[in-house]
Amino acid sequence: MSDRIHTLSGYFHEYQKSLAEPDKFWARIADSFHWRKRWDKVLDWNFEGPDVKWFVNGKLNITENVLERHLFTLGDRPAIIWEPNDPNEEGRVLTYQELYHKVCKFSNALKAKGIGKGDKVIIYMPMVPEAAVAMLACARIGAVHSVVFAGFSSNALADRIEDCQAKAVLTSDGNFRGKKKIEVKAVVDEALEKTNDVETVVVYQRTKQDVVMKEGRDYWWHDFIAGQAETNTATEMDSEDMLFILYTSGSTGKPKGIVHTTGGYMVYSKYTFENVFQYSPGDIYWCTADIGWITGHSYIVYGPLLAGATSIMFEGVPTYPDAGRFWAIVDKYKVNQFYTAPTAIRALEAHGTEPIEPYKLDSLKVLGTVGEPINEEAWHWYHTHVGKNRCPIVDTWWQTETGGIMVSPLAGVTPNKPAYATLPLPGVQLAIVDPEGNELTGNSVEGNLCIKFPWPGMLRTTYGDHERCKQTYFATYKGMYFTGDGVKRDHDGYYRILGRVDDVINVSGHRMGTAEVENAINEHPKVIESAVVGYPHEVKGQGIYAYVICDMTNRTVENLTNEIKETVRKIIGPIAKPDKVQIVSGLPKTRSGKIMRRILRKVAEGAMDDMGDTSTLLDPEVVEEIKKNRIN
Ligand code: WT7
Repeated sequence: MSDRIHTLSGYFHEYQKSLAEPDKFWARIADSFHWRKRWDKVLDWNFEGPDVKWFVNGKLNITENVLERHLFTLGDRPAIIWEPNDPNEEGRVLTYQELYHKVCKFSNALKAKGIGKGDKVIIYMPMVPEAAVAMLACARIGAVHSVVFAGFSSNALADRIEDCQAKAVLTSDGNFRGKKKIEVKAVVDEALEKTNDVETVVVYQRTKQDVVMKEGRDYWWHDFIAGQAETNTATEMDSEDMLFILYTSGSTGKPKGIVHTTGGYMVYSKYTFENVFQYSPGDIYWCTADIGWITGHSYIVYGPLLAGATSIMFEGVPTYPDAGRFWAIVDKYKVNQFYTAPTAIRALEAHGTEPIEPYKLDSLKVLGTVGEPINEEAWHWYHTHVGKNRCPIVDTWWQTETGGIMVSPLAGVTPNKPAYATLPLPGVQLAIVDPEGNELTGNSVEGNLCIKFPWPGMLRTTYGDHERCKQTYFATYKGMYFTGDGVKRDHDGYYRILGRVDDVINVSGHRMGTAEVENAINEHPKVIESAVVGYPHEVKGQGIYAYVICDMTNRTVENLTNEIKETVRKIIGPIAKPDKVQIVSGLPKTRSGKIMRRILRKVAEGAMDDMGDTSTLLDPEVVEEIKKNRIN
């Protein structure tokens, strides 16, 4: 049964119902799933704790809703279509039936190694179907998966393993990405030298490169599953049992483990998938994200598979073997819904329209974007050249913490407005607040984006540190969840997301905390102090600009800047590498010693004549020097 909304008036109607009677509204949606035991109460909550419970005392297993529920009717339908990095390599199709057997087999193998309910399992894998199998197998046995993007460094991986005390790591020998073959197992080995928790490592053979296998700890995937049965009884979970942890960056210190639980996430990811993309049975849907991010969790794996959809998984990159690769894949599989990031659109836009011209793209019905604000120019390029002026664009605003899409047009239902995420989904109660926390009502207002009422897909805590969850999201404005984003509501009541208002930089749709990058820079022995800001970047949305005070003995500016970039790459990963490093003799500080980032942002942007109020600066000379040596 589908809970799809088909018209704009239908949307307003549903939205009103979700406001007036949220329990009734969500109970109706949740009733279309398979529960071993129905819930006693739909919602129990307060935002002070915060303490939020959805579908209280409901018992279920999410994979029964992905697998068993579809087997009789959709057993032969492709669940996952896999397109490899190299277009000359054969792709793979897993039907729901085949996915079921693979998940069961892997579940049994994990159980045989003593992994069970509540155990944490890190998945550090390339984009191969086995990564989805791994996630689902964890969910099936009640183990908590934490997928770590396979581009993160061994240090970042070790931090995450340690934070959640992972018992097992699922990985591959290597990873194909464009022309490159990337080491994966070797990174895991390095990470495991720094932690003691991991007892089992399972290695999927993808690139066939040489790897070191540690006796008694490391197993090849094919050996690991050999002899295991292809059926398995799923472990019964409570609605509020943890489903997964996903680490994300914030404005302070180390990444935090966002915790999502079972029942609410299940209901929310499927409901939003069907409605936003207007998915019809038989459609071929493709999201280009990586499973290492929340987009991959909710809109490659859980949402689509819960809806019985066919979800494409692509191993490669948009520009290999050429900048027409996405469009070749769209035509090859007759993709109906295509979901990607503004940074990918801008990168392809830079290649012009020539790489698109050979392709028909006539199967496309819906285009989507996610991860960062889309600029109007990129929106129009996407709409004209990819969508041929006939596909609605869903600009979907959400976060790792929200679990699923929060503000977005429903494709073909909600009128589009370029660069606007438009309207909240049913069940989502937005508030725009001023810096003092007063809610700004009415239209034509701008402020900070908050959410006033719980929704089923929301985070429940930050792993191992509930106080941090409270302080980060629920303490800034009392009684509300604070998103960290600025927003405008226009004269029609449509929402436009303006970007982060905290110290978080959005690089190619990936979140980086300035403090996190600074900590990495400060690891370099010659670095005394650093300050990092974002600046507008044509393709990435934002680039990373670092101002660094260094001890210059025995170093040139050039080798120091390179060493600093390299240090960040090693500590976090390539995505965090600063685009620009400026060596400075001092940083602009207030008399109380606070770095005035506003000034550093202005310089990085090149808005040199627009410094604002600098009267509280301790040493105005510093600003002059920074301006003079600015990196273009
Ligand atoms: C931050 C969340 C949600 C999946 C990908 C990113 C920004 C996300 C949009 C959009 C403008 C957007 C926000 C948000 N963001 N989507 N459609 N328009 N900004 O997840 O890593 O948790 O980052 O991404 O700033 O807070 P994430």
